[in-house]
Amino acid sequence: MKYELPELLLDIEDGVIDLGWGHPSSTLYPSAEVINAANIALAGQSATAFHYGAAQGFGPFLESLNLFLSKEESYGVTSSPKNLFLTAGASQGFDMTCTLFSEPGDCVFVEEPTYFVIEKIFRERGLDVIGVKTNSDGICLQDLEDKLKKGIRPRFLYSIPTYQNPTGISVPRKTRMELVQLAEKYNFLILADEVYQLLNFDSLPPEPMMHFDKNNRVISFGSFSKILAPGMRVGWIHSSEEIIEKFAGSAYAFSGGGLNHFSSVIVNEMLKSGDIEINLFNLRTTLKNRSDVMYDALQNHFSSQIQFNKPEGGYYYWLKFNETVNTEHLLPIARKYGVAYRPGNAFSESGNFDQYLRLTYTLYRSDEIEEGVERLYKAYGRYLR
Ligand SMILES: Cc1ncc(COP(=O)(O)O)c(C=O)c1O
Repeated sequence: MKYELPELLLDIEDGVIDLGWGHPSSTLYPSAEVINAANIALAGQSATAFHYGAAQGFGPFLESLNLFLSKEESYGVTSSPKNLFLTAGASQGFDMTCTLFSEPGDCVFVEEPTYFVIEKIFRERGLDVIGVKTNSDGICLQDLEDKLKKGIRPRFLYSIPTYQNPTGISVPRKTRMELVQLAEKYNFLILADEVYQLLNFDSLPPEPMMHFDKNNRVISFGSFSKILAPGMRVGWIHSSEEIIEKFAGSAYAFSGGGLNHFSSVIVNEMLKSGDIEINLFNLRTTLKNRSDVMYDALQNHFSSQIQFNKPEGGYYYWLKFNETVNTEHLLPIARKYGVAYRPGNAFSESGNFDQYLRLTYTLYRSDEIEEGVERLYKAYGRYLR
């Protein structure tokens, strides 16, 4: 039966290899393990999953999550379940953070370029969004300090410190420390979007932002969307006890009784059984292979006609063409050749990224990635003519 309304966010034209969507691959979801976990969680007519949950989140889930995060080498911050709060994904956490910690008219700094929806999320909350330049180390401290010295006082700095979306860059340790120092000096909160932190390939990323926080300046957002399944809508906030109490004490969390309690009861079983760790291992291996395939295809076809870095983890390639290319104009031609991507200007309101585009290697198989890059190269040839 055909429905009038869409089923999913994913919307791909027939015949197009769409390398624009930063979504996980349909073939990589561990469905059998999720079913098994659901069977265990719901066995014996247990009502636990069906009740309203605790406002901070389902206690056993928070404990399992804490154990998992402290054991994961790419995370490795020792804390306590009291430092964690259950969310229905990072996006929900951002919105709730705005409700609890900002007022309309406050200002928020974001990296330029950044996650393409975040500026709209902040604007929907009446915040004034100001872009901070980025460089090969991620956020440009000089530009940030210049703005602060000019007297601009943000309520938040939103940053994606590890395997950034869209650039793939990770902010070095030293810069992370300096960011926290600036947050203390100028009294703002760092919203660290760390949804890709656990998706490292060969080497470990720098420690997450909470590792550097001594004075309640960091609110970190994690998610099972990129490491399990986004449809389950389970994520977490990691922060100081004081800040977590503010989330847990909110009327919203109390009224709804834990966000999203039912799914977290199931994910808890997967954390306890070790299935999440196995899934993470499989994802790292497959995504690294797909990234290698994309790298080779880009090198083979484009060689020196574009600039890009090989990602050390995460989901993305960020390509820079020479200044005569406008990737928004290239896109309709690419679609005719059966491939799509996200143009650079989607990731910043500044309009400074005409020459850039973002590709994702997570959604498609290796042979489709090769084919997609080949189509892009042909479309680029057509565009130049
Ligand atoms: C940087 C970043 N943050 C957050 C999200 C959304 O996360 P969630 O599904 O946990 O809401 C995405 C999804 O693409 C993302 O790339």
